[in-house]
Amino acid sequence: MGSIRSLVLMQLMILLNVILTVKASTPAVAKPGCRSRCGDVIIPYPFGTGRDCNITAGFFINCNTSFIPHKPFFGGNLEVIDISTDGQLRILSHASYDCFNTSYRNWLFYNFRLFEFSINNNKNKFTAMGCDTYAVVQGSYGQRYTTGCLSLCNNITDVSNGSCSGIGCCQTSIPKDVKSYDISLSSYANHTNVLLENPCSYAFVAEIDNYTFSASDLHGFEFQGKQFPITLDWKIGNKSCNEANMDVNNFACKEYSKCVDSENNSGYLCKCLEGYVGNPYLTNGCQDINECESMSPCNGTARCTNLPGTYNCSCPVGYEGDGKKSGTGCSLPNKDQSKTSPLIVALGLALGFLVFSWG
Ligand SMILES: *[C@@H]1O[C@H](CO)[C@@H](O)[C@H](O)[C@H]1NC(C)=O
Ligand SMILES: *[C@@H]1O[C@H](CO)[C@@H](O)[C@H](O)[C@H]1NC(C)=O
Ligand SMILES: *[C@@H]1O[C@H](CO)[C@@H](O)[C@H](O)[C@H]1NC(C)=O
Ligand SMILES: *[C@@H]1O[C@H](CO)[C@@H](O)[C@H](O)[C@H]1NC(C)=O
Ligand SMILES: *[C@@H]1O[C@H](CO)[C@@H](O)[C@H](O)[C@H]1NC(C)=O
Ligand SMILES: *[C@@H]1O[C@H](CO)[C@@H](O)[C@H](O)[C@H]1NC(C)=O
Ligand SMILES: *[C@@H]1O[C@H](CO)[C@@H](O)[C@H](O)[C@H]1NC(C)=O
Ligand SMILES: *[C@@H]1O[C@H](CO)[C@@H](O)[C@H](O)[C@H]1NC(C)=O
Ligand SMILES: *[C@@H]1O[C@H](CO)[C@@H](O)[C@H](O)[C@H]1NC(C)=O
Ligand SMILES: *[C@@H]1O[C@H](CO)[C@@H](O)[C@H](O)[C@H]1NC(C)=O
Ligand SMILES: *[C@@H]1O[C@H](CO)[C@@H](O)[C@H](O)[C@H]1NC(C)=O
Repeated sequence: MGSIRSLVLMQLMILLNVILTVKASTPAVAKPGCRSRCGDVIIPYPFGTGRDCNITAGFFINCNTSFIPHKPFFGGNLEVIDISTDGQLRILSHASYDCFNTSYRNWLFYNFRLFEFSINNNKNKFTAMGCDTYAVVQGSYGQRYTTGCLSLCNNITDVSNGSCSGIGCCQTSIPKDVKSYDISLSSYANHTNVLLENPCSYAFVAEIDNYTFSASDLHGFEFQGKQFPITLDWKIGNKSCNEANMDVNNFACKEYSKCVDSENNSGYLCKCLEGYVGNPYLTNGCQDINECESMSPCNGTARCTNLPGTYNCSCPVGYEGDGKKSGTGCSLPNKDQSKTSPLIVALGLALGFLVFSWG
């Protein structure tokens, strides 16, 4: 009898485990019926690959299936390498170049256009390199901006690795909220004085930690085909949370999430409430975290109960404290320790005996 009962119990537990695992391993990323990845890149809603899969036209991702693996593109021809639901999108951009030999000039000046989103000015920088290089970057953030830098060197031995202070390499930051840029390169003498060591000028916008200058990059023509990642900021619409909240049908933040205004109060983001994880833009996207399983927050003797958005630790009968490892734990009250302690022990023994005899 006992063995059958434990067999049934075990099967029940396995079944429960399977249900829990399945539920935990497939959190929704995209809208139902929409593709949640394109090649190696995960495409979370509000982004999507067309029809009702993206929240508005500005969040459309073109998944080009003629590449193996498939490649996602955004805003026409910008290749996407990463999308996060916390308001950032990483894309690849090209290096601009201006290359010379004794008889020939070969150049490409790259330009970059966004419609709704902007370039994150803390994470990206404009870099130019060359020994006869005058680099300009201009574009708009509502109004026009122009900036740039100058990089020179008489002799390539003057150049030091890692330093972009104007000898062989220069850097400058990009203004806030920039939506576009055009790069142009020029020189004082067509590199004629440095042609052997440095035939090209290069310039690009890239994430700060993605490129470290090396003097050897000045030598050849290799940078002509290079691509660099740029981090963009995205947000929903151009209203503040308070305004957007009134338009219930179009409000992007779903259950168990909160709305966060973007810096300019023009547009907002959604975040899951504390104690929840997932995609706040989807119905049922924010799911309760089972803290008891994921972080074992209770003191060894305390019982952990998962609650919506939080958890509770309860100490065994007769003990006091909040039961939390990070809190007061569980301990016997100081005063009448001698009275309660034997009672607990006796109770424990009795319980243990009962369980034993039931099996
Ligand atoms: C998603 O993007 C496509 C392409 O721009 C657009 O035709 C479609 O209307 C967008 N979906 C929504 C719900 O706006
Ligand atoms: C996919 O990429 C190829 C090669 O760049 C291009 O010819 C084709 O038009 C693209 N397809 C779509 C649907 O964008
Ligand atoms: C200069 O570059 C062009 C194009 O790459 C090439 O055809 C030509 O032979 C080069 N001339 C010299 C002197 O290297
Ligand atoms: C560059 O500097 C090195 C060592 O300082 C020297 O030997 C070389 O002749 C210099 N080259 C030019 C083109 O001035
Ligand atoms: C910030 O607000 C100003 C004034 O309303 C506007 O011109 C500018 O485009 C806004 N910037 C962004 C990134 O929305
Ligand atoms: C640089 O090259 C251009 C043609 O590509 C020529 O018009 C110009 O005069 C040259 N400048 C110098 C300083 O050699
Ligand atoms: C720069 O970014 C590219 C594209 O994501 C990546 O392949 C490369 O490893 C990065 N380089 C560094 C030094 O982080
Ligand atoms: C600069 O870095 C390159 C490789 O990135 C290395 O070959 C070269 O020796 C370095 N030069 C100096 C002066 O450290
Ligand atoms: C806000 O967004 C709407 C719809 O996308 C657009 O028509 C309008 O011009 C935008 N307003 C501003 C101030 O950018
Ligand atoms: C949490 O546990 C304490 C005992 O530690 C108990 O008094 C309280 O009722 C519990 N709260 C909930 C919501 O279960
Ligand atoms: C539980 O709490 C008691 C009393 O605070 C402490 O001595 C013990 O180390 C705690 N155990 C764990 C596993 O945190």
